Amino acid sequence: MKVDHAGEHGAICIYSGQLFMARLFAPDMVSELKEFLSHERRHRTVFQAELQRRNYPRCRSYWLCGIGGLVLGLVTGICGRKAIVATTVAVESVVLKHLAHQLHELGDIDPHAVAAITSIVEEEQHHHDQSAAQIDVRDPWFRALNPLVTAWTETVIWMGMRS
Ligand SMILES: [Fe+2]
Ligand SMILES: [Fe+2]
Repeated sequence: MKVDHAGEHGAICIYSGQLFMARLFAPDMVSELKEFLSHERRHRTVFQAELQRRNYPRCRSYWLCGIGGLVLGLVTGICGRKAIVATTVAVESVVLKHLAHQLHELGDIDPHAVAAITSIVEEEQHHHDQSAAQIDVRDPWFRALNPLVTAWTETVIWMGMRS
């Protein structure tokens, strides 16, 4: 739950960074990014409530996720639409895999966690699908960014799970 909470904070920072740059470099993406950002804010609130219920502190990786997300968002935002959608597809695929894994592991053990995760999966899938629909897999942005962003996101989750 702590890593999920930190991860949603990271997602908020990615979309905030992209939104900031998209106003200059990809104005047609602003409304979509605003919509995704509002979802991520809700997701963070969902996990925040779970942490409070359990009396857990924030994940130690919370600020790291935030800064990492913001840098990723700003850099890909400068590069424009193709970089933004390539990032979203990569990040959300890792997120969806992580959530599916958690649902599988926690299925019978932790009904509150399952409810929290279930309540966000559909929106994460929507972010992924809507962005994937705008992408050409042969696009150089996608080919270059996908492995990088995937590795970055997996590393952050992995580090969070160990801290
Ligand atoms: Fe999210
Ligand atoms: Fe998302």
